[in-house]
Amino acid sequence: MSKLTGSRKATQFTESVIREMTRLNEMYGGVNLSQGFPDFPAPAVIKEAACAAINADVNQYAVTWGARPLREAVAREFSRRYGVRVVADEQVTVCCGSTEAMMSTMLAIIDPGDEVVIFEPFYENYGPDAILSGATPRYVTLREPGWTFDPDELAAAFNEKTKAIIINTPNNPTGKVFSREELETIAALCRKWDAIAISDEIYEHIIYDGQLHVPIATIEGMSDRTVTINGLSKTYSVTGWRVGWTISPPSLTGAIRKVHDFLTVGAPAPLQEAGAVALAIPDDYYRKLAADYQRRRDVLLEILERHHFTVYKPLGAYYIMTDIGTFGFADDVEFARYLVKDIGVAAVPGSSFYKNSANGRTKLRFCFCKRDETLQDADQRLEKLVPVGVHLH
Ligand SMILES: Cc1ncc(COP(=O)(O)O)c(C=O)c1O
Repeated sequence: MSKLTGSRKATQFTESVIREMTRLNEMYGGVNLSQGFPDFPAPAVIKEAACAAINADVNQYAVTWGARPLREAVAREFSRRYGVRVVADEQVTVCCGSTEAMMSTMLAIIDPGDEVVIFEPFYENYGPDAILSGATPRYVTLREPGWTFDPDELAAAFNEKTKAIIINTPNNPTGKVFSREELETIAALCRKWDAIAISDEIYEHIIYDGQLHVPIATIEGMSDRTVTINGLSKTYSVTGWRVGWTISPPSLTGAIRKVHDFLTVGAPAPLQEAGAVALAIPDDYYRKLAADYQRRRDVLLEILERHHFTVYKPLGAYYIMTDIGTFGFADDVEFARYLVKDIGVAAVPGSSFYKNSANGRTKLRFCFCKRDETLQDADQRLEKLVPVGVHLH
């Protein structure tokens, strides 16, 4: 057999469906409500800080585990908000986005045969992250409409091989915000089985209806077995900057930093300087961010309901999961392709968030991190969409 093929690892997962939808959308000139990046400007103060850093010739490698001002800011803000002491030198590692933070963490802690518990529907990177790091994923399903999990099903997913559980709250794609009680249940299992919680909290500040974000690191006994992952992308609308970080217990930091160093050396140095400025923005910014997104959420919820989607109201993050059963398509991928080609709106097929694609066959995810004009444009295009039965007359 020819050796001019991809590795076994690389053939175990497919290309990102989200990026495929973005490409199709560009081809057909539609409205992109698939990939979660904002189409509005980032705060001026952080753009100015980035320009200032480049003009000041912050152009060479930063310290591999992250420029001190950003690491200190990450530690300071987490301690201030949640009352858990974080020591920048021992616990914070800056990476190229939370994507690399997750990958470096997984590669740093997983041995072949280790199991990792993943809630589904999941952010689509977690599957490939598990495969690339050699982990065996164990999936536990979050069930609509509340996206709750069955504590017995979760307990059954843990065993002596369980190395870690991945949590994402506020959650992509469901908009679920894990409650303290749910996190207590997860934490008890982590303590029982000596497992690590890897908590992707990238939507920390994008949270609605008075919900509170609870980092699992704040639950009793969890700060020394939790890796918290976060970044600038969503909070400051700079998904292209590629700055994220881990907050890890000192016992894991060395391994994460080594892997990170050999994967990417470091995140963009001038943008790390701007990151430190971003984290010092007064709290009003975060309140406004959440209020603006809540308004956008309500706008898109109304649009989608009017166009016959069944919607699951998100309590955080900037996505709406929908059910598309009323449109009579064979599956979600066929519907998503139809929607982008014939209607002109790109969304993500639900199956890309499930291990067993049948579970996502009638689902579709829209994002609302978009300007009002963009959402209105989508609204107009969706006028052409008709549920089964209606267009027969
Ligand atoms: C849950 C989740 N984690 C991580 C990321 C990627 O973040 P970053 O830009 O920091 O790599 C995303 C982006 O959509 C996400 O939804």
